[in-house]
Amino acid sequence: MVERNCREVKVREIRFLGTWDEPSDFVELTLENPGWESYRPGQFAMLRARHWGLELPWGRPFSISRVDAESVTFFIQVVGRGTSRLARLRTGDEVVVWGPLGNGFSAPPETPTLLLAGGMGIAPFRGYVERHRTPESLRLVFAHRTGLDFYPYQSLAQLVHAEAIQEHTPEDLPGIIARLEEVMDEYAEGGLVLACGPTPFLHTVQTYALKMDIRAEISLEKTMACGVGACLGCVCKDAEGKHMQVCARGPVFPATGVQL
Ligand SMILES: Cc1cc2nc3c(=O)[nH]c(=O)nc-3n(C[C@H](O)[C@H](O)[C@H](O)COP(=O)(O)OP(=O)(O)OC[C@H]3O[C@@H](n4cnc5c(N)ncnc54)[C@H](O)[C@@H]3O)c2cc1C
Ligand code: FES
Repeated sequence: MVERNCREVKVREIRFLGTWDEPSDFVELTLENPGWESYRPGQFAMLRARHWGLELPWGRPFSISRVDAESVTFFIQVVGRGTSRLARLRTGDEVVVWGPLGNGFSAPPETPTLLLAGGMGIAPFRGYVERHRTPESLRLVFAHRTGLDFYPYQSLAQLVHAEAIQEHTPEDLPGIIARLEEVMDEYAEGGLVLACGPTPFLHTVQTYALKMDIRAEISLEKTMACGVGACLGCVCKDAEGKHMQVCARGPVFPATGVQL
């Protein structure tokens, strides 16, 4: 499976997001499409530049944000060694990609579906909205710290009803949590909530979904090495406390089925 999913492709375009006034560590990376037209939104890929040496033997996991006939797009926030090197790629550079990996979000047509994104957790929802059979049944609430221009928010807001909430200071947090819970309440009867973002954000969503018996799926971000179930680098626990690998069983789990 590893070899079948592994391809070498070229960078088509790379650009830093943000404005001249507010430069950023957020990058939109567009690669040649390795043949992923049938990917499922919520799936991810491991990326590794071909010229990386032995000091960086593993690729890094990123949500597949969107796929079209020619290209596949990722949104990457620079946080460490791998992401800073990916951000220095240039058009024509070669990247080894493993994917699409993992399971992806449910997409039941006609079901009122709330997309909850925290920070770079917005990335998979771009493709999710574009590929959904009834996008009019979708709604996005996006919680973020840095400016909206750093994320693919505006392109999504053109496609679905969308709301952005910014955390300027830690004092904003209780208000943001209250707003998330208020919107989730609207999906308690026959709806679906999908969430992607940092662990504290997912924890908020999971806790409320369990309390109110709201159907929800959450996409976990775990440090990964192999990305294909071979190294035990990404272990989490299911609801019964049994260990499972996020890359092989996830990254999307029912809120009832995983411990954060
Ligand atoms: C399924 C999945 C999808 C993801 N999608 C995106 C995405 O679309 N855009 C994006 O910017 N990031 C995404 N991430 C997070 C991204 O993989 C990490 O930020 C990246 O691997 C860090 O690599 P690094 O070498 O720069 O950082 P390192 O030098 O390895 O570490 C720097 C910091 O990042 C933390 N870190 C390392 N790996 C991860 C990880 N996998 N998840 C969370 N924190 C990590 C480390 O604990 C450390 O604090 C995703 C992660 C997963 C598991
Ligand atoms: S990253 Fe190796 S088992 Fe998941």
